[in-house]
Amino acid sequence: MNALALEHVSKSYTLEGAVRPVLKDINLQVEHNEIVAIVGASGCGKSTLLRLVVGLDSDYRGSISWGGQNTPSLSKVGMVFQDHRLYPWLTVEGNVALAFDNTSLSTADRRDRTRHYLRLVGLTDYAKAYPRQLSGGMAQRAAIARALAQEPEVLLMDEPFGALDSILRMRLQDELLSIWERNKVSIVIVTHDVEEALYLAERVLVMEPNPGRIRDVVEVGLPRPRDRGDPALAALKRRCLETLI
Ligand SMILES: Nc1ncnc2c1ncn2[C@@H]1O[C@H](COP(=O)(O)OP(=O)(O)O)[C@@H](O)[C@H]1O
Ligand SMILES: [Mg+2]
Repeated sequence: MNALALEHVSKSYTLEGAVRPVLKDINLQVEHNEIVAIVGASGCGKSTLLRLVVGLDSDYRGSISWGGQNTPSLSKVGMVFQDHRLYPWLTVEGNVALAFDNTSLSTADRRDRTRHYLRLVGLTDYAKAYPRQLSGGMAQRAAIARALAQEPEVLLMDEPFGALDSILRMRLQDELLSIWERNKVSIVIVTHDVEEALYLAERVLVMEPNPGRIRDVVEVGLPRPRDRGDPALAALKRRCLETLI
């Protein structure tokens, strides 16, 4: 059974009375512990697609199933947005512990799990810090810790490193891979950075706009750890760019 399956998913927005198709016939299967990347130009419907998958919008055609079930739940999907969306009035540990709201965990378990996920993203020493005291990369790591603390089967990431400089982005990509290796989870990452997509994912879905649809599926098939300078990656990048540009 797939961790996530989309079949013939289409979506339209109605704007000032006019119906605008945004997603057309999206098919996607994500296996357990697989990393899938979605690349596409701005406006091709990537965020809309994740909103459907995380259950923020149920107005679509086709079907989505989460681990074989027809309704999403917090225990199935976690989400990391481009802007970290941490609550400024809560500390880092307070933000991560939000993942345990509506659970029956004891106070001690909440504290242990919060510590565990902060350690996983390298923020142990910043547990008591407020979001304004963090750098962009640290805030994004805290957001990843919060999403992982829900222990989702699928982690959705919407351009999670898009606002960061390229060196920090590469560092966080490596951190994400090491978290993924230690903490088996399926990841769907949306990005407009083709190199990021090819470095991280087993499969890269290349989208085309108006309406958003999947134009190409690139199987990366390279062993890990990958070499960013691998000519095989450069060849795949060329293929993706031919579709995108
Ligand atoms: N709530 C909305 N109402 C109407 N149109 C929307 C809404 N949200 C997004 N759109 C439109 O849908 C298209 C896809 O948007 P989005 O999913 O944000 O794309 P991406 O994340 O790939 O940049 C855009 O043309 C955008 O203007
Ligand atoms: Mg977007």
